[in-house]
Amino acid sequence: MSRFVKLATLQELPPGGAKEVEFEGRVYAIFNVDGQISAIDGICPHQGGPLADGALEGTTVTCPWHGWQFDVMTGKTPLGPKIKQAVYEVKTEGQDVLVAVP
Ligand code: FES
Repeated sequence: MSRFVKLATLQELPPGGAKEVEFEGRVYAIFNVDGQISAIDGICPHQGGPLADGALEGTTVTCPWHGWQFDVMTGKTPLGPKIKQAVYEVKTEGQDVLVAVP
């Protein structure tokens, strides 16, 4: 069962910003897309690149290592349906960003 854990604050995530957080052995990439916060698995499934360090354009993040792209809201990629990045539910409480960790 998942539970919501504070992994960031809104101050750390300006619009267009991203933050990588490691929690209980997992790496999360948290993004602010024009005020909407999303959290996905922060490790690129290609060769482990840090997705939080990728360029964010709209809802698309580009892995900084070899350019695979993911929608940070859905986890989907133009590479096809076989690859999908995990997406985690997010809520905010005041300035706190809470992520539903598995
Ligand atoms: S590690 Fe992300 S595209 Fe290669």
